[in-house]
Amino acid sequence: MRALAFHGRRDVRVDTVPDPTIRHPTDAIVRVTSSGLCGSDLHLYEVMAPFLDEGDILGHEPIGIVEAVGSEVTNLAPGDRVVVPFNISCGHCRMCEDGLQSQCETTQNREHGMGASLFGYTKLYGQVPGAQAELLRVPQAHYGPIKVPEGPPDDRFVYLSDVLPTAWQAVEYAQVPDGGTVCVLGLGPIGDMACRIAQHRGARVIGVDLVAERLARVAAQGIETVDLSGVSELGDELRELTDGRGPESVIDAVGMEAHGAPFAKLAHRMTALLPDALSAKLMETAGVDRLAALNAAIDMVRRGGTISLSGVYGGMADPLPMLVLFDKQVTLRMGQANVRRWVDQILPLLTDDDPLGVDDFATHRVPLEEAPAAYGRFQRKEDGTVKVLFAP
Ligand SMILES: NC(=O)c1ccc[n+]([C@@H]2O[C@H](COP(=O)([O-])OP(=O)(O)OC[C@H]3O[C@@H](n4cnc5c(N)ncnc54)[C@H](O)[C@@H]3O)[C@@H](O)[C@H]2O)c1
Ligand SMILES: [Zn+2]
Ligand SMILES: [Zn+2]
Repeated sequence: MRALAFHGRRDVRVDTVPDPTIRHPTDAIVRVTSSGLCGSDLHLYEVMAPFLDEGDILGHEPIGIVEAVGSEVTNLAPGDRVVVPFNISCGHCRMCEDGLQSQCETTQNREHGMGASLFGYTKLYGQVPGAQAELLRVPQAHYGPIKVPEGPPDDRFVYLSDVLPTAWQAVEYAQVPDGGTVCVLGLGPIGDMACRIAQHRGARVIGVDLVAERLARVAAQGIETVDLSGVSELGDELRELTDGRGPESVIDAVGMEAHGAPFAKLAHRMTALLPDALSAKLMETAGVDRLAALNAAIDMVRRGGTISLSGVYGGMADPLPMLVLFDKQVTLRMGQANVRRWVDQILPLLTDDDPLGVDDFATHRVPLEEAPAAYGRFQRKEDGTVKVLFAP
């Protein structure tokens, strides 16, 4: 089959690799019909090289058709249309029962001290071959895949794999009070969708980014926006918009590659030049200057408010302004999305009325063969690229 494989920093290629096969009775094989490109893939593309091997297949946002199932997968049959959640979870351990599927104890990566395995997401998360490919082996298929109806286009359901539950969880964890305001930092696919969901649920929403097309796209949904590049003190700007107190809730949908972090670029580049062991260490400790968005969130959030982090952070030694967090009595919630937990609440919104605008959410739909160029354009935010779907 053809699959998008990692070959080094900013070097991904479409290779011919062996077809996956059923290896465990709980596996399924899915023929991918659409597969998303995610901001999380950009972390792999740029800074996570020490945790990847050449040839690792990337991608974790697939929809497709079941081709084959293992003997213990009785809920699916060949021909079923399914979306596959980005985290791999068993559905019957203590964590899964508690709705913490991203911490699944069956697929946890204990040797690295990490949570549930993820598709296409480094040795830290199980080194499971990813979904930007023609075929995908799905472990724990008795639980993970979400059956969706035939008829509507892939766009209607594909975001159940990541964007929708991640944005839903971000809003849920933000605990926006009735009549309250949530500021969403970062208007990539995750932040954009978090704005739509928060608005749909009745909050006042203020979106912040510095890419004109992304701001315009969110403004077109009737959402207030602030252009980061046009303000000198973001915290002051937000306080001005909220009675001087700041928003009750802030969602950080930026993560560790925030702009406004000049040193981060250097650290990123250093990780690329050092031998793997050393650069893995640097990657874990040099997060210091990647905290621009989180620091903005801490500054602007109202006293007693909540910060919901959905952007991925990688540092282990990032100094946080603990004094400010403590003094302002801030609640911090974060983590990988527990995809399965939110599906039943989201599915009723994926109708012909399309209240969240999923049918037109993708800005680019490209053949898998053109994926390497699309990675570059998405990273550089060229050509209005916000959400890319690959058609294998
Ligand atoms: N928690 C989860 O389960 C989960 C799932 C998917 C993605 N993510 C993470 O969410 C984050 C966003 O993902 P995405 O797909 O939307 O990626 P993206 O890279 O397209 O979006 C990030 C956006 O942040 C903007 N930005 C950069 N610096 C900023 C700053 N200082 N203030 C405000 N905006 C700033 C960028 O211009 C960009 O539009 C990534 O870190 C990704 O890894 C987490
Ligand atoms: Zn993703
Ligand atoms: Zn589990």
